[in-house]
Parts: sequence; structure tokens; C-alpha cells
Amino acid sequence: MKIFVDTASIKEIEDLAQWGIIEGATTNPTLLSEEGGDPVKVIKRICEILKGPVSAEVVSQDCDGMVREARELARIDEHVVVKIPMTVEGLKAVKILSRDGIKTNVTLIFQPVQALLAAKAGATYVSPFVGRLDDIGHTGLEVVGQILQIYENYGFGTQVIVASVRHPLHVLDAALMGAHIATIPPKVIRQIVNHPLTDIGIDKFLKDWEKLKGK
Ligand code: G3P
Repeated sequence: MKIFVDTASIKEIEDLAQWGIIEGATTNPTLLSEEGGDPVKVIKRICEILKGPVSAEVVSQDCDGMVREARELARIDEHVVVKIPMTVEGLKAVKILSRDGIKTNVTLIFQPVQALLAAKAGATYVSPFVGRLDDIGHTGLEVVGQILQIYENYGFGTQVIVASVRHPLHVLDAALMGAHIATIPPKVIRQIVNHPLTDIGIDKFLKDWEKLKGK
């Protein structure tokens, strides 16, 4: 499973890129607004750091506007993937963009059959939002499992990005299900690394080593 970072924070991405585990990033209007500055420059910088797929979202609601914005976003860098919301206008835009060779990430997916339609329209990626489904009493990961099953049944090449990840268990379940990618907020990536038994183990090794040196 590939790991993308779900942030537009240049500082975080510069740091996490050094870990050697991040293969792409996903942004959205909320995350870019949190980062501030010129969004074009921010997206370009993320692409330069990661040299992998970086999702940037359109804000138009109509197909023509989405396609126009998508072409502008795609011009920023070869690594840009255009995020398109899962709507009728979005599907029309994905069809046009996929024909033009522009990569798309159909976002705000909340049920498996939406992902089926997105794949049929030519989406490169789909993003089911697991955390937001959990928030309203559904099991977000079930949707991921069903999307993976549908894609396998019919041989779709569309890749599933597990999004709206809120905690390490989401990442574990995504990996067990064979999701292609999980896009994870920096805070959750750090949570995955930390384990109290690791810290206790390091502490004990260091203390024992000091004892040896004292002998
Ligand atoms: O990748 C989608 C993500 O940014 C949404 O996460 O936590 O706002 O539901 P959240």
C-alpha cells in the first residue's frame, strides 16, 4: 500500500519526505486554505519535494469550469492529479480529462457504486472518505472493501485512495483490505511510528549499555 500525506503543509511535507515512506500527497481547498499563501506555488513546491502524485482540487461546480480549472492545475507540474467531486458534472469532466490524458482523483466518495461510476468515467483514483462515514455512524472501511471487490470483479485500473483517515486503525484496516493507497494526515503518520514499548525498549537497551561501560 502506498502512503500519501494528506496535507498542504510544506513544512510537514519537507520533514516527512526525509522518512522515505511518502509517495504522494493529497490536498483540498480546506488544507490549502490552512497553509495560506499562493496555492499554485504551494502545489508546485509539494510536487518538487515529493516527485509523486499530488492531488489538487477544482472548485467549479459545472463541467466546463472544472475542465478549465483542471487544465490550469495540470500545467503547474507533471505530478498534479486533479481532484474532481463526485457529481454528474464531475463525471462529465472526468470523461473529458481522461481522454486528454489528465489524471483525476474523484473525491467525496461515500458509497461503492459512486466509485463504480467514477471508474467507468475514467478516473485514475477514487477517494472514499472513511472518517466522515464513521462520523455519521457508518463503517467507512466497509465501503473501501466493497469498492476493491467491484474493481477486482471487472478489472478496473482505477486506484483506491483511502481518505479522511483519522487514526492508525484506519491505516491497518486499509492495508489488510489491500487498498492501493492511504492518504494520511501527518499527525496520524507520527502516531503510527510511536509505540510505548519501543520507547521502553530503547530506554532499557541504553541503560544496560551504560552498565556495561561502567564495568
Ligand atoms: O483526504 C480527505 C481529507 O482531507 C478529509 O479528511 O478529516 O476532513 O474528513 P477529514
